Amino acid sequence: MRVGILTAGGDCPGLNAAIRGVGKTLLVNNKARVFGISSGFLGLIENDYRELTENDLSGILTLGGTILGTSREKPFKKSSDYLEEIDKPAIIKENYEKLKLDCLVCIGGNGTQKTALKLAKQGLNVIGMPKTIDNDIWGTDVTFGFHSAVDIATEAIDRLHTTANAHKRVMVIELMGHHAGWLTLYAGIAGGGDVILIPEIDYDLNLVSEYLAERSKKEKQSSIIVVAEGIRHKEKMSAGQYIAKKVGKMIDQDIRVTILGYIQRGGSPSAYDRLLATRYGATAAELITQGNFGNMVALRDDVPVAVPLAEVAGKLKLVPKDLPLIQKAANVGTCFGTKF
Ligand code: F6P
Repeated sequence: MRVGILTAGGDCPGLNAAIRGVGKTLLVNNKARVFGISSGFLGLIENDYRELTENDLSGILTLGGTILGTSREKPFKKSSDYLEEIDKPAIIKENYEKLKLDCLVCIGGNGTQKTALKLAKQGLNVIGMPKTIDNDIWGTDVTFGFHSAVDIATEAIDRLHTTANAHKRVMVIELMGHHAGWLTLYAGIAGGGDVILIPEIDYDLNLVSEYLAERSKKEKQSSIIVVAEGIRHKEKMSAGQYIAKKVGKMIDQDIRVTILGYIQRGGSPSAYDRLLATRYGATAAELITQGNFGNMVALRDDVPVAVPLAEVAGKLKLVPKDLPLIQKAANVGTCFGTKF
């Protein structure tokens, strides 16, 4: 067999562990030749690929980023990158056939799985692997990249506590999470955030300021507000800056903002993500060997399974408002900007 692998969308720790997981399982067991496609779907459009050997896949388990590079190229969307209009899906299919691929492994987030399904409908054999720090892919309990980002963000929040205390300040930290608040919820709780604001829960800043005033009355030196970049607000500024601006006018404490940004997507994967990406990769290799295409590998109750792409592609997994974890955090005194 000849198997192509691509990484698409935002990068995250664990991508190389995933490439290694699927690639080495196929190579070590002599199941297939493996070809790395450069820069996500762009590499298939531009026929930019290279054969991967076991040596290419050694020593990358702990490496951040992706040895293949990535892009946000959406083949089924018109893009201004090309002077004349080209039929990108047709070119992809042509290059897939020219390379004589038996399967294409698409490692990526929601958009990537949606594209994978569309390519499957064009006759390509595809397998999806769920990647994103946002953990917002339907159909799997967890995406790789998520836990690494939770660890990174939690460590950042830990550090904010000491400087906030030193200056008796309110510190706002904005975390990634365009649509879903999983990363903000998990890191906010793990980091002991006092206020956690996520896109899925409408917030009332009056409740937030009353909560902060209560903390001051109890002689709490400082407070930490953890906010997801995707919360709804009306002004042309980042979520963190918006919250600092509004809350800063409602309290009599100094307030500062940290936007953690791409730090959450950088560096070496956590041990959990190395393990998860390896499990996903090995499972993908099994599906390929069985000829079981058109699926995304997923984790359900800690068991790697195959989920039909048609069931998950493009569906967002948002934080349910009635998630028991939220109530537990509220019960230990965390403010979500709302009354439960
Ligand atoms: O999808 C992952 C993610 O990191 C989001 O959390 C973030 O909003 C987005 O990617 C940033 O996109 P880009 O890397 O294109 O700036």
